[in-house]
Amino acid sequence: MASLTRTATWRALATHRRTWHDRHLRDLFAGDPQRFERYSLEACGLLLDYSKNLIVPETLALLFALARERELPARIRDLLAGKRVNSTEKRAAWHTALRAGHAAPREVRNALAKMRALATALRAGTVHGITGHAIRDVVSLGIGGSALGPALATAACAADAAAPRVHFVTTPGEPLAQLLATLNAETTLFIVQSKSFSTQETLRNARAARAWLNAQFDASDYGAHFAAVTADAEAAHAFGVPPERIFPMWDWVGGRYSLWSAVGLPAMIAMGCDAFDDMLAGAADMDAHFAGAPLEQNMPALLALLGLWHANFFGMATRAVIPYPPALAPLPAYLQQLEMESLGKQVTRSGKLLRCESGTVLWGGTGTDGQHAYFQLLHQGTRPVPVDFIACCTPRAGPGGNDDETHAVMLANCFAQSALLMRGVTAAETEQALLAKGMAAREAARLAPHQALPGDRPSNTLLLPSLTPRSLGTLLALYEHRTFVQSVIWDINAFDQWGVEHGKRLADSLLPEFTATTRGTAHDASTNGLISFSKTHNRRKS
Ligand code: F6P
Repeated sequence: MASLTRTATWRALATHRRTWHDRHLRDLFAGDPQRFERYSLEACGLLLDYSKNLIVPETLALLFALARERELPARIRDLLAGKRVNSTEKRAAWHTALRAGHAAPREVRNALAKMRALATALRAGTVHGITGHAIRDVVSLGIGGSALGPALATAACAADAAAPRVHFVTTPGEPLAQLLATLNAETTLFIVQSKSFSTQETLRNARAARAWLNAQFDASDYGAHFAAVTADAEAAHAFGVPPERIFPMWDWVGGRYSLWSAVGLPAMIAMGCDAFDDMLAGAADMDAHFAGAPLEQNMPALLALLGLWHANFFGMATRAVIPYPPALAPLPAYLQQLEMESLGKQVTRSGKLLRCESGTVLWGGTGTDGQHAYFQLLHQGTRPVPVDFIACCTPRAGPGGNDDETHAVMLANCFAQSALLMRGVTAAETEQALLAKGMAAREAARLAPHQALPGDRPSNTLLLPSLTPRSLGTLLALYEHRTFVQSVIWDINAFDQWGVEHGKRLADSLLPEFTATTRGTAHDASTNGLISFSKTHNRRKS
């Protein structure tokens, strides 16, 4: 594949970018009352308003030409057909097969049936611990992709007080100890979620849970209080999980794409089996759209290309995802792993150094909280940050959902922020407003530059009909495919994470030094120094 930055289309985009200095989004809106109709798209029940991006028709024409040159349609077909798109690990990344309904592979359907059986029994109160009491609390022990997805789905969709309470513990040590202090061992089930069954943090927590159970029951028959989701069934069994409680993972499902697999079990327990099926169906809707829609109307492709335009040609190195529904608070953290593990790469699939920037830093949080914190920088900082705003047209149904007035407040805030980022406020407008309030001309002129907002800051707005399992599935699949499209354009492998793997190995190799009595010299001066200082100043040991 030709080097991306040497292609004629990339160069044409660079030339086109240079024409941008005399354009402002405010003027583009003023000059085109149809801009919303022109630059918005509905798919699978979601509305994407992308009119507030730094685009004119030529921009989009060039971006779609680039996508075609990079053979995006063929690469989408490979992904969805389960081809080995993870080139360094020679595996498929076939997460879409997990939500293919009747067309899913038999092993997937079997795993789902087994999940449903346990989730249904837990929700019916018919799963008992070794003393015969029904399980009331389920604790998921997992980290990264083995926690972020189910934790998000549980936060967004669990509305059922009758279900067992579902807890997520990721980091080892204190969080688990604090949670256990509130739980009853007789009514608690732990699900060890680890594809590899070797992740240090998860195994430490699993051992701590096992020790807690042993201490409470004075027995070693703790198996009734464990389940596991893993690709290493042998290791889980050796740990003490009964075989009938071990749920499979497959090497063709990456951790950050695994919510749809048995990794979703805690979410299924919390939201119910039908709701989990709806979430899978929502994701499958987006898969079908991604497979079939022409590029110009393909929502994941469009989002990916717009993101790339701002990142590569305007140097916008971070991007923010701002959901307004409070139940989507964990979404930015989930997307952080999805995008930054997938796109944080510096070489092409053939191992050549990239000649352009790849993955951007993703951050964010709920809108109303952000407005009272970091939005100041979004409006007036010197580094423009593209934003994805996410909101729902209908408040959440049932108890706990917003009343109509609160819902309107949320939407008003959301739409106000994106409008302000787009249009800004000129110094002249500010000055006029101050004068109209009776301020002296000199003082108004002095304050005007402080109160002016540059505008011209890009954002997308995604509107969900309402936050349901189905719309959540659609939204997450949208971001998965957005990620894949960017990897195709940059020609990087979105499905490995060697940086993380190296970090895990180095941490394992440092560990013995904390118990060694001799001063370590095996590492660089900084690492040796930090280990030594932290040991000397460990007050518990001195
Ligand atoms: O954080 C890195 C990572 O490898 C993720 O990709 C994965 O989701 C997570 O660790 C947990 O790994 P495992 O499921 O094997 O415990």
